[in-house]
Amino acid sequence: MAKPKVFATHRLFEPARQILQEVCDVEFWTKTDRPPREELLRSIKNKEALICLLTEKVNEQLLQAAPRLRIASNVAVGFDNIDVAACTARGVVATNTPGVLDETTADFAWTLLMAVARRLGEGEALARSGNWKGWDLDQLVGTDVWGKTLGIVGFGRIGRAVARRASGFQMKVIYTDAQRVPEAVEKELNAEFREMNALLAESDFISAHVPLLPETRGLFDAAKFSRMKPTAFLINTSRGPVVNEAALVAALEDNKIAGAALDVHENEPFIHPGLKRANVVLAPHIASASLETRTKMACMAAENVVALFTGQRPRNMLNPEVLKAS
Ligand code: DGY
Repeated sequence: MAKPKVFATHRLFEPARQILQEVCDVEFWTKTDRPPREELLRSIKNKEALICLLTEKVNEQLLQAAPRLRIASNVAVGFDNIDVAACTARGVVATNTPGVLDETTADFAWTLLMAVARRLGEGEALARSGNWKGWDLDQLVGTDVWGKTLGIVGFGRIGRAVARRASGFQMKVIYTDAQRVPEAVEKELNAEFREMNALLAESDFISAHVPLLPETRGLFDAAKFSRMKPTAFLINTSRGPVVNEAALVAALEDNKIAGAALDVHENEPFIHPGLKRANVVLAPHIASASLETRTKMACMAAENVVALFTGQRPRNMLNPEVLKAS
């Protein structure tokens, strides 16, 4: 029997390639640049499965170009690049990679938090510049992390993993979310619920961990920044458009907040020029980028595809109703 035809928009990692190739006939995109849209649409024409990255939009246009497609498997937990409703309407299963990147992403939220609080970017630049004149008492003085208040916006798996790390820094942890988590979870993580405005007013560091949804787009806007402490920092490892960057730049310029550390950006790969300032730490969307975690993500995406073609339900379906209906 002919193997199902798959297009993967990345060469992935060897363990993921092996999982796929046992069951499927896979065409991998192997160039360093992301595939141009036209080429993607051409490559997907006769394929039954797509493995894609968050940089590829799976929308009506792509689905129309791929009449045989049965699954779009995203190598990311965030799936704002996928029009799930359009997939469902066409009977295409959509999947993502939840769970495997939580701890790695939480590590990186902390990396950013520490870097911006302790002015690591500026210190590193000075150390490399050849201009460092030696130790001085008030040189690059930052702000303490330990003992401060950490506000977590979005208390899902990643937000909780960030909270768990705070105890070593003797921090007070507060969180906000659409729903309060069970008391047992609050106890375990030593975290207290706050309404958004209270959290903004109380936190020294605010870390965003919400998915990008219509209601979270532009969540951090001028009104939110004006409620934050002038000594507070914003950390974002979720999705760029959760922060209104123009409003953030204005808040930084007006000293409404003390700084920001951003792994994600409103219009990636464009970096807002107003954010290239000393009190902002910038990273190129790498919070989950450890070899271990990215390999797990690729394997999970491969397993989702293989499951579908071996008669099982993929583990991470975003539209499980597609398979119930068939
Ligand atoms: C995701 O998975 O959504 C991250 O942004 C990349 O790991």
